[in-house]
Amino acid sequence: MKTFHRDIKTKRLNLTKFFQEDVSRVTSLVNHREIASTTANIPHPYKEEMAVEWIGQQEQTLKQGKNVVWAIRLEESSELVGAMGLELNERHHHGELGFWIGRNYWNQGICTEAAQAVVSFGFKEIGLNKIYAYHICRNPGSGRVMKKIGMIREGRLNQHFFKWDKYEDAELYGLLAKDCTGF
Ligand SMILES: CC(C)(COP(=O)(O)OP(=O)(O)OC[C@H]1O[C@@H](n2cnc3c(N)ncnc32)[C@H](O)[C@@H]1OP(=O)(O)O)[C@@H](O)C(=O)NCCC(=O)NCCS
Repeated sequence: MKTFHRDIKTKRLNLTKFFQEDVSRVTSLVNHREIASTTANIPHPYKEEMAVEWIGQQEQTLKQGKNVVWAIRLEESSELVGAMGLELNERHHHGELGFWIGRNYWNQGICTEAAQAVVSFGFKEIGLNKIYAYHICRNPGSGRVMKKIGMIREGRLNQHFFKWDKYEDAELYGLLAKDCTGF
């Protein structure tokens, strides 16, 4: 895995690392039932100490080549509006894309714009061969983002997640470097 600078600029966004100064903003963005409900690992309620721990471990997991996490900030106002991560598998040259966007910023194309940049970065800068993502079936908006960035549906994973005492079916999407035509 190559070493790389993480910051990425897009038309409307700056993708950077998270800082401990972001803790209270992260907590208020994530502490919504709607954010926790469709993500595999985010609990509800989401407490400040969870944000401290999550941000605190990011440099370590980056150094270990396990995970790259970006804060999504609006270029115009510098507001933090979401997060995007690539969980890396060095042996298999693939990465799992994951994301959340604060509730007030949904359906403005922010996730799609950030995901395009991160996918492009994953192929060009990190050297991945494949990037994939899952969404639970009752979260079609997330699937829409995957389609909009050119990912191909690879199949249904029955009862793949256990969320809030219920098994949830998921859809798997993937994109190969050779099929990524650029954005
Ligand atoms: C999924 C999520 C990240 C999308 O962020 P976003 O910035 O709103 O995404 P975008 O605006 O780029 O794209 C959303 C697309 O989904 C569509 N969409 C939204 N709700 C939908 C629904 N219920 N059914 C179908 N499409 C839907 C939007 O219309 C848009 O598509 P369009 O541009 O073709 O109109 C955001 O909803 C979120 O954070 N959800 C909670 C956390 C989560 O589920 N994370 C993903 C885990 S896999």
